[in-house]
Amino acid sequence: MKTLILNGSPRIGGDTERLLNVFRQKLEGECKTVDAYRCGISPCVDCRYCRENEGCAIDDEMQQVYRYIEECDNVLIASPIYFSELTGKLLDVGSRFQMYFCAAFFRKAPIKIKPKKGGIILVGGGDGAADKGESTAKVLLHQINCFDIHPAVLSHNTNNLPAIEDENAVTGARRIAEFFNGKSAD
Ligand SMILES: Cc1cc2nc3c(=O)[nH]c(=O)nc-3n(C[C@H](O)[C@H](O)[C@H](O)COP(=O)(O)O)c2cc1C
Repeated sequence: MKTLILNGSPRIGGDTERLLNVFRQKLEGECKTVDAYRCGISPCVDCRYCRENEGCAIDDEMQQVYRYIEECDNVLIASPIYFSELTGKLLDVGSRFQMYFCAAFFRKAPIKIKPKKGGIILVGGGDGAADKGESTAKVLLHQINCFDIHPAVLSHNTNNLPAIEDENAVTGARRIAEFFNGKSAD
C-alpha cells in the first residue's frame, strides 16, 4: 500500500506535523511526503502544454510526484488554514493537477490514475471557518481520482489548544490511517 501526504505547513514541529506523526504511526505500507514549503515544486503557469501534449512541461520535483500519484492507493492533504483556505504553497503544488484536468477535458485521454482513498487534516487558530479549505482539498482530491474520502479531521482552536492535545483531532488522524489501512473507522 502506498500513501502520498501533501503537507501544507511551513512549521517544523507545528500543529499539522504533530498530527501527521500520529497518522504515520498508525499507517501501514510505504509513505511519501511532499512538504509544500520545502519541495522544489513550482506553480502551474497555464502554459497550456498539457492541452496538446501528455504530461507537464515544467521539469521539477513534481514529475516524480505525478508518478507517485498515478500508482498510489491513498492521498492525505494536511494543512493549516490561512485566511480560511489551504496555504498558498500547497495550492501551488495542487495547481499542477491541472495537467490531469487538461488531459481529460481537452485531449479526452483515458485517466491513468489509480482510484484511491482520500483524507483531509486541517488545523486553524480558531478564526473564521474551515469549510473553504475543506472544499478546496476535496476539489484537489477529486482531480486525482480520489472519491472515497474520509470525513475531514479538523483542529480549529490551536491558538488555545495545540492540535496534539485536541483529542478529537488525534483520534481522527488515527482513524484516517485505519481507513487507509482498510480497517473499520470505528
Ligand atoms: C498567514 C496566516 C493566516 C492564518 N489564517 C487563519 C484563519 O483564517 N483561520 C484560522 O483559524 N487560523 C488562521 N491562522 C492560524 C494557523 O492556521 C494556526 O496557527 C495553525 O495551527 C498553524 O498550523 P501549523 O503549526 O501546522 O503551521 C493563520 C496563520 C497565518 C500565519
